[in-house]
Amino acid sequence: MTARAGMTQGRTAAGIAGVLLAFCGLAIPGAARAAADAAYGAYLASECLACHQASGTASGGVPSIVGWPEADFVAAMTAYRAKRRDNPVMRTVASTLSDEEIAALAGYFARLSPAGGR
Ligand code: HEC
Repeated sequence: MTARAGMTQGRTAAGIAGVLLAFCGLAIPGAARAAADAAYGAYLASECLACHQASGTASGGVPSIVGWPEADFVAAMTAYRAKRRDNPVMRTVASTLSDEEIAALAGYFARLSPAGGR
């Protein structure tokens, strides 16, 4: 009887620990992933910044891509990649990017503020 009660208790404790572990397991990598994505976005963006201005200034026919909603950015990039948007340069640039890379870039450029903005 006592042994049985002990076992039940042990199982419950293990259950709680399991739930806590699962919770931490979700929460910690989530934060780490966000930080990694930001760093990854910055790394990938160096290619884009050869043409696009980080300040959000349009120059020489190259539009600003700073401060866009992420969904719009992803839509534009996937449209170039799918050749649904017309521009030879951007089609070539987008053709090398995976969905993950486009998402990281969208997050990075969305967080840059246009010069003199917000
Ligand atoms: C060689 C120069 C060059 C590079 C490098 C380049 N772009 Fe572009 N990008 C352009 C030009 C020019 C346009 C305007 C195309 C047009 O008029 O349709 C453009 C357009 C865009 C647009 C759409 C802008 C709008 O207003 O609709 C997005 C989004 C974009 N680029 C993102 C990127 C990203 C992300 C990268 C890096 C992975 C990148 N570009 C690299 C030249 C470049």
